[in-house]
Amino acid sequence: MQDEDGYITLNLKSRKPALTSVDPASSSLWRMMTLALLVLCVGMVVGLVALGILTVTQQRYLQDENVKVSGTLWQLARKVCQDLIKELEKKEPKSTRSHKCSPCDKNWRYYGDSCYGFFKHNFTWKGAQKYCADKDSSLVKITSKNVLEYLKDRTSLIRWAGLSRQNSNEDWEWEDGSVVSKNIFELSGNARENMNCAYFHNGKLYPAFCENDYYLICEKKSGMAKVDELL
Ligand SMILES: *[C@@H]1O[C@H](CO)[C@@H](O)[C@H](O)[C@H]1NC(C)=O
Repeated sequence: MQDEDGYITLNLKSRKPALTSVDPASSSLWRMMTLALLVLCVGMVVGLVALGILTVTQQRYLQDENVKVSGTLWQLARKVCQDLIKELEKKEPKSTRSHKCSPCDKNWRYYGDSCYGFFKHNFTWKGAQKYCADKDSSLVKITSKNVLEYLKDRTSLIRWAGLSRQNSNEDWEWEDGSVVSKNIFELSGNARENMNCAYFHNGKLYPAFCENDYYLICEKKSGMAKVDELL
């Protein structure tokens, strides 16, 4: 029976490989699919991480831009506000009234990032220091030519500044402990023994006895110019 034989052999041949090849074929298919899924998963994770990094950097960039823009806007607001105040002062030099955009309290003048109070009370230097402290401020500190010019233009009276020294052998220091910047000004006049406090007069600082009675200038950090008052 060749047919039978052939059939049998054929059957056997086709059965044997069929039996053994069903498993490898499907398992390699599974393997392929698993691999494909794995690749997909890894791809997605990589994609998500990349997206995350992109979002974070973009957010940071936007934040930085925001900070820059609002910084510029605040500076602009300050400039416009202080120009308006200057105009007002030109019109009414005697008035202590300020533009509504000023962040400073009544009787305080807005310049740079500070509010300046020119008070006409006679105090010793210590008394002046306390007077300012009671108003959440300190005696004026002059750290730039601009501030010096500003103060000079606004008062010609003798007024205490926040500059003093422990004794004749010590350096002159501002109230925060910083020393006088020599390229802005040097102390004028002769500092005699026991003249350990400095007053401001016509753009210069002079040493004096701390027990003398003078008017004073207080200073405190200003808030931001009131932008809504500029519109
Ligand atoms: C402060 O003292 C000066 C000099 O003694 C005097 O001329 C002035 O009137 C005094 N000012 C006040 C407000 O008391």
